[in-house]
Amino acid sequence: MFYITTAIVYANGDPHLGHAYELVLTDVIARYQRMIGNDVYFLTGLDEHGQKVQQSAKRLGVNPLDLCNDVATKINDLCSKLLISNSDYIRTTENRHKHTVQTILQDLYNKKEIYKDDYKGFYSVKQEQFLQEKDRNVDGSWPEEFGEVIEIIEANYFFKLSQYQDWLIDFIKKNPDFIYPYFRQKQVLEFLKDPINDLCISRPIQRLSWGIPLPFDPNFVTYVWFDALINYISAVRYGSNQFSEYWPVNIHVIGKDIMLPAHAIYWPIILHACGIELPKSLLVHGFWNFSGRKMSKSSGEVIDPLSLVEKYGPSAFRYFFTREMNVGQDSEYSLDQFVKRYNNDLGNDLGNLVSRLLNMGARYSNSQVPPVTIQDEPEINLLSFWESTNKEVREFYDKKLFHMALDRTFSFIREINRYIEIRAPWSLAKSKELEDRKRLNSTLGTIAESLRLSAATLAPVTPDISIKIYELLGLNEISTWDLELRWSSRLEGNTLGEKTILFPRYNN
Ligand code: MSP
Repeated sequence: MFYITTAIVYANGDPHLGHAYELVLTDVIARYQRMIGNDVYFLTGLDEHGQKVQQSAKRLGVNPLDLCNDVATKINDLCSKLLISNSDYIRTTENRHKHTVQTILQDLYNKKEIYKDDYKGFYSVKQEQFLQEKDRNVDGSWPEEFGEVIEIIEANYFFKLSQYQDWLIDFIKKNPDFIYPYFRQKQVLEFLKDPINDLCISRPIQRLSWGIPLPFDPNFVTYVWFDALINYISAVRYGSNQFSEYWPVNIHVIGKDIMLPAHAIYWPIILHACGIELPKSLLVHGFWNFSGRKMSKSSGEVIDPLSLVEKYGPSAFRYFFTREMNVGQDSEYSLDQFVKRYNNDLGNDLGNLVSRLLNMGARYSNSQVPPVTIQDEPEINLLSFWESTNKEVREFYDKKLFHMALDRTFSFIREINRYIEIRAPWSLAKSKELEDRKRLNSTLGTIAESLRLSAATLAPVTPDISIKIYELLGLNEISTWDLELRWSSRLEGNTLGEKTILFPRYNN
């Protein structure tokens, strides 16, 4: 089983473009894994507890669960509009989750990994975390990202994180594939050069009631990050047979902001302390910026992903965000660039190719795919272009260089268009020679087959468009790449679909 997850989104506001991107990226990987023949379990979900959600609900005058239900509906709607093929959707208010959080806490408490202590310190209400002196600005003030900072003294429970620091450093050094891309691993090791503190895992119920009660002390609820991370094992029923089949997870897809300390430090140590195997890898993606600034709910610069999907279609959205992001780096979003990619790549290169084939098929072969009986230099060249494209694309997918995979696929699509120019079927159609008739037929057959191969190659990124192209070629299902990505004569005799415009042109 190939198990892959996204981060679970905070339930304190509407989903935005950053969330949509993470879903798309994870879905592209999930669909790619299915294409190469793996069984995939794809988990996403909602992070519902904690101060942020409690505060947002209070501000809106609703109870926290109603707010979470509303956000859950919106995210599910976004998932279905983006064609996200998740197998499960976990909400941290579900019983299966609460039960696992309490099991883990009780286990760690029994093992004396959790202790109670007084905590005196500065606390960021916004980030829900205690701060340290080293978090201050040079002038002694607190950085803006922490919002209001207050001084508090309270009893709390702590998890003995610090005693595992050396073990973690050793683990990361011995497992260079644990954190992708590699420069993120170096960043974690750099961070671990300073001593880490034990982790405060509780909040007194008077200050925060919206959380999972500690099983050994009902006066406290669980710190939201400790609660949230456990979703990855509660969804697959920690302790059951299903768990041993699915765990360890293959990839946790996360943004760079939540790699440290949550996923690269707390999570591996919690698992290790419980005697649970560690995730195989963290895939840390960069941020989508809007005019150079990070897009987040608190900065107010949120672009509604649904409006883009509704106007341009799910595949256009998925294509743009996969094509423009070198996973790991940051990327800049602009509507101009979106429309440019849409019109140039999808409209001109791919959409026109489909229209040309359907038009020429209707005109010259009664909308049947004719047999390929002639393979001269242009066909041989196109075939060899395909062979190298196929090889490169598979390697790029494997190396998580999805933008490069798309770049190569579109080079092939442009090569098919060039092939049409070279063969000029409209001239062949004017000739009375039998050889030219055969050449015309072979050209149409070659275009159809190379279009089919392109559609199958694009399927993880543009699932609805790929299946639509298959249907226009008289097929109804895309199976695994081993079967689909072979140059073949399987389209021979198929009836082509009606003329259609896959990507209507937009100015913006
Ligand atoms: N609830 C926590 C995650 C808990 S996982 C056990 C959280 N939620 S979030 O809603 O703030 O972010 C969810 C995901 O969206 C994170 O992986 C985050 O990095 C990602 N993104 C948020 N804004 C983003 C961009 N502007 N660009 C790309 N991804 C970004 O953190």
